[in-house]
Amino acid sequence: MTQDELKQAAGRAALDYILPKLDPDSIVGVGTGSTTNCFIDALATRKGCFQGTVASSEASAARLKQHGIPVYGLNSVDSVAVYVDGADESNDRLELIKGGGAALTREKIIAAVAKEFVCIADESKLVGVLGKFPLPVEVIPMARSHVARQLVKLGGDPVYREGVVTDNGNIILDVYNFPIATPTKIEEAINNITGVVTNGIFARRPADVLLLAGKAGVRTLRRK
Ligand code: A5P
Repeated sequence: MTQDELKQAAGRAALDYILPKLDPDSIVGVGTGSTTNCFIDALATRKGCFQGTVASSEASAARLKQHGIPVYGLNSVDSVAVYVDGADESNDRLELIKGGGAALTREKIIAAVAKEFVCIADESKLVGVLGKFPLPVEVIPMARSHVARQLVKLGGDPVYREGVVTDNGNIILDVYNFPIATPTKIEEAINNITGVVTNGIFARRPADVLLLAGKAGVRTLRRK
């Protein structure tokens, strides 16, 4: 199976997983990225089973609308039944690195609101220790140099992501050479740097379920 086929399998598995939890009033949280795009395409086949969605990026909102799926602002919905999104890395505690697509802040907000966070990925994303994938940090533009210096003090090697402006009008620093042995502590330490909007460690609010697509099928891992 190709990686694209694995992503499609994960997207379909997410639909099968969430359908029994939905009713016609349910709001589905939708993440960002190529794996989530497979989920969006699967979700479009079951439009009558939920009311609508909230989206973690303009790109996902556009794809949902192209399918005729309603997209609401987060402030206009009472609750989010379930949030489905991909990840750049997951450990076996379902702590994640996200933000390869620069949508980390809105992703973290919807994950915080959702009753259940379902992560979908192909098996290449499961790692022992987070941090091989460079950690994205969303930063207020005027704080870029200050935040970069603080990230160096924490032991990382921050690199400005050229040409990228987030949906919130900010910039991204990707932190290389930064193994993350204690995800919750590092998440909090980076968020405490003045000028950081958020960082791509999802440990304070990890996924509840990881649907991991491999050659032998889709495995369901639950938070320990
Ligand atoms: C978007 O900002 C990210 O958090 C994505 O969820 C993550 O990069 C996974 O993307 P893919 O499914 O494209 O690998």
